[in-house]
Amino acid sequence: MKIAVLPGDGIGPEIVDEAVRVLKVLDLPLEMEFAAVGGAAYEASGHPLPAATLKLAQDADAVLFGAVGDWKYDKLDRPLRPEQAILGLRKELGLFANFRPAVCYPELVHASSLKPELVAGLDILIIRELTGDIYFGQPRGRRTAVDGHFPGSEEAFDTMRYSRPEIERIAHVAFQAARKRGKRVTSVDKANVLETFQFWKDVMIEVGAQYPDVELDHMYVDNAAMQLVKAPKRFDVVVTGNMFGDILSDAAAMLTGSIGMLPSASLDKNNKGLYEPSHGSAPDIAGKGIANPLATILSAAMMLKFSLNQPEAATRIESAVAAVLAQGLRTPDIWSEGTQKVGTREMGDAVVAAITKTIKS
Ligand code: IPM
Ligand code: MN
Repeated sequence: MKIAVLPGDGIGPEIVDEAVRVLKVLDLPLEMEFAAVGGAAYEASGHPLPAATLKLAQDADAVLFGAVGDWKYDKLDRPLRPEQAILGLRKELGLFANFRPAVCYPELVHASSLKPELVAGLDILIIRELTGDIYFGQPRGRRTAVDGHFPGSEEAFDTMRYSRPEIERIAHVAFQAARKRGKRVTSVDKANVLETFQFWKDVMIEVGAQYPDVELDHMYVDNAAMQLVKAPKRFDVVVTGNMFGDILSDAAAMLTGSIGMLPSASLDKNNKGLYEPSHGSAPDIAGKGIANPLATILSAAMMLKFSLNQPEAATRIESAVAAVLAQGLRTPDIWSEGTQKVGTREMGDAVVAAITKTIKS
């Protein structure tokens, strides 16, 4: 099994290192090959997604990705910015289905910014469409306005659009995922204002009719944002478009204690995938050895489950993560009174040790 490992920028290399160590201790026939991506690739070769990196990702069975981005690249032309690397990979690899589970571990109930009773036992799954919407819609650009409120002035524009097949395929992914869990799907839209999302809702209802065993409801995105912080446990599977999913999944992340805990999987139609933490490159804490590697380690577990058909190994990682949390080890982002503060490496060490223990026993 070939894995393309793309650490990227900021804390990316530190957290990916720990995930790689965890994968190695599992003793599976994994071939890991590294390549530069994002700002790191731009520095090395002048492009955030070099052809060789893309090729490596295309030829691999799965991609393990760290994070990209740094404020120091904000002035670059858009095609050269680090973010284009992850957007390009999603597009080029056809990774349209993004799974962002938000699970609150019992030990982290007090690390959440919400009251413990609101998040205890939380287990929701946000499914974000990842290759369409206003992120990729054409045309986009800058021009002189010919109409609108200020004709003759400079303006910028993007295009929000979804085609029927794009909505249908993500709907099927969501209903099928719900079948394996709580059998409820909430489709999040803005059908009261946007044509794109009235269409989204209509197609969701049509596809939903093929899944009579799954309950479907609809929520406007503003209300969904409110419900996520008011009563998050009311959700099971949330399915939404690229931009709303970007925003809501960050909000959902905080329910679990820290965005440093959230893994993600981005899958194509054959379950080939890219696995990355839901958080970004956090340049402010890069190189300090304090970043939480658990989101990346849990992303590696998702990779074993979804793309590499190694569910037992995935469970072993997940149990090890639960075990180190039970031991009271915490990186600063999830630290609370009475627990032991550790760095990135120590957290990785602890997960490796917990796995070794289960292999031996
Ligand atoms: C994410 C990130 C990306 C996105 C950025 C880095 C392009 O925020 O994966 O959520 O907006 O999709
Ligand atoms: Mn985001």
